[in-house]
Amino acid sequence: MKRKIIIDCDPGIDDALAIFMALASKKLEVLGITTVAGNVGIDTVTRNALSLVSIAGFQIPVCRGAAGPFLIKRETGGARIHGENGVGDVLLPQPSFDEDSRSAADFINEMAGKYEGELELVVIGPLTNIAAALGRYPDLSKKIKGLIMMGGAAGFGNVTPAAEFNIYADPHAAAAVFQAGIPIDMYGLDVTNRALITGDEIAALRATGKAIPVICCDMMKTYADFYESVGFSGLALHDPFALACAVDETLVRFKSCHVDIETQGTLTRGKTVVDILGVTGKKPNVRVALELDRERFIQLLSNLLCSYE
Ligand code: BDR
Ligand code: CA
Repeated sequence: MKRKIIIDCDPGIDDALAIFMALASKKLEVLGITTVAGNVGIDTVTRNALSLVSIAGFQIPVCRGAAGPFLIKRETGGARIHGENGVGDVLLPQPSFDEDSRSAADFINEMAGKYEGELELVVIGPLTNIAAALGRYPDLSKKIKGLIMMGGAAGFGNVTPAAEFNIYADPHAAAAVFQAGIPIDMYGLDVTNRALITGDEIAALRATGKAIPVICCDMMKTYADFYESVGFSGLALHDPFALACAVDETLVRFKSCHVDIETQGTLTRGKTVVDILGVTGKKPNVRVALELDRERFIQLLSNLLCSYE
């Protein structure tokens, strides 16, 4: 049976690759996409999601979500990595369909009711929509099977020395979600900074000459500038890695830990405080991904992207 998922995202170059992968996978049924302001603003990420789904040849609900966090100002640094239009300044074609009239929170709740105990949320942007939905619908947390989340890190951050972007962008939302009692698989920088695609692997994708792999390579040009500037030996495919693990969980090894979110710290706001050694004695609330099989991830990514005609 296919896993029933909603992708909550802020496309975003790596979000775009994750969307293409999800729609191509025979293991996943993408019920819809919900958008959230993150890498760029809500109008842009929503339009990008519509265009990406259209390019992939699908028509599924794309529901607009939050235009920013409720308690703090929106973080606007994402354009530096993803380009002003969120997709590496590649011009995507006009969407072939319109956005859905339901809000992200309402759509998530509706699907959770329809597929109670089955629905999983693949969350690859700030957690604002999920927190909003949980706040609006008190029974929702019991209906959701789990969260597959790209965000956080047991180790160092990428937007500050302490914090990862998706959590930093809305730490209050993240705190609410982590405390909601929903099973969470956390794909943080501990693994996604090692989910690297090399220049040779990008060249191989481009050499296929196929439309979707080539668009992905075009988008990744901008993304490469950032990863070169921080001295990585490839491009960290954060969101595609989390999505890949939804397709094949054997790509990763977890440790169950208690994770809290720092919402206040002057130096550490947005840090996922991961109790790896169990020193707090608090019950684990998250499966934290700590080890990965990079080669098999890239193989899966390439198979899925190249499966489009
Ligand atoms: C996360 O932040 C965004 O820039 C990416 O799309 C990814 O979801 C990585 O920290
Ligand atoms: Ca993202």
